[in-house]
Amino acid sequence: MSECDTRIIKIDPNNIDTEALKECAEVLKNGGLVCFPTETVYGLGASAFNEKAVENIFKAKGRPNDNPLIVHISDYEMLPLVTCCTGEQMERLMKLGNEYWPGPLTMIADRDSAVPETVSCGLKTVGIRMPEHPVARKLIELAGVPVAAPSANLSGKPSPSQARHVIEDLKGRVDVIIDGGDCRVGVESTVLDITSEEPMILRPGAVTLEDVKKVLGAGGQCDWRRGVKEGETPRSPGMKYTHYSPEAEVIMYEGDNELVKRNIKIAAMSCLLKGEKVGVMTVDENAAFYDMMPNVLSLGSREDSLSQASNLFRILREFDERGVAKVFAEALPTGGVGDAVMNRLFRACGGNIVKCDG
Ligand code: TXA
Ligand code: MG
Repeated sequence: MSECDTRIIKIDPNNIDTEALKECAEVLKNGGLVCFPTETVYGLGASAFNEKAVENIFKAKGRPNDNPLIVHISDYEMLPLVTCCTGEQMERLMKLGNEYWPGPLTMIADRDSAVPETVSCGLKTVGIRMPEHPVARKLIELAGVPVAAPSANLSGKPSPSQARHVIEDLKGRVDVIIDGGDCRVGVESTVLDITSEEPMILRPGAVTLEDVKKVLGAGGQCDWRRGVKEGETPRSPGMKYTHYSPEAEVIMYEGDNELVKRNIKIAAMSCLLKGEKVGVMTVDENAAFYDMMPNVLSLGSREDSLSQASNLFRILREFDERGVAKVFAEALPTGGVGDAVMNRLFRACGGNIVKCDG
């Protein structure tokens, strides 16, 4: 695609410059592309009602045209513009919205015909999220339209948790990039299908299965480790794109902690002896074990999934910045937000896993 001039505008989330944000909202209203911060990751936004602008999102990202977009709203008044759901679906939406909106939860509901098919890639449903980040909310409010936005990375790359990641991937491909600082959560929102008999988490995130069950008294989670078989239609099209990773090859080591550490060290050292540039992705508790090795980066405490989530994508990109060819990554504890972290790591390694058990 041809290069365009990208304006980079800094906006302090704690002291929003409304005039500057109004200009960004104008760009959205006029069919332009605006990248903006949310509490999960940065989004690449366009007016959800402008089909041409939505098509441009797919072009700017190099995104396959069968992977639907999430529509972002600033308040409940916008909800009937995007979904025509009723009955039990509406009830679920209201209950969960009451608890977790604004926040890192996307709900899949029946799509209103006002939302162009392009947004949902022909599906009868639409993903809806009310983000919590003040810049995102204010931008959507000022634009006065729901905003369709995937994560603001080139397709296949880790999602951007900092403005500089967006600039690296999308400068020259979008009209505006709003720099609103670092994203707190760091991994993308939980995607929950509320149209099915049992509400199902299609993509784990900071709102966990336990959180959903607490509110609805029911719920399940897709097995994100299984992947999608040839010829099978995934419930969430995004699930079949398994590889969103850094340039470096990522190998995940899983099993007994002592064996994991030892095997990683041996494998990494043998690469180093061959002159290969390697990195290790670990946790605070294990970092000292890799003393004397280069490019050892910690995601935070092994017990702290929230910190791991907020650091994961930034660290994966940092390995690339350091020119690392191979990353040896320790598997992390699952359960709660740990599922979201492991799901992203699983995808980053493309199923390249070494089991380390007894
Ligand atoms: O945190 C987030 O969700 C970020 C910020 C910008 O809001 N957005 C984001 O969007 O991660 P994206 O496009 O990178 O991921 C959207 C996911 C994809 O896996 C997609 O397949 C799924 O949501 N999805 C969207 N609409 C859907 C639908 N109608 N049915 C099933 N899955 C859907
Ligand atoms: Mg994405």
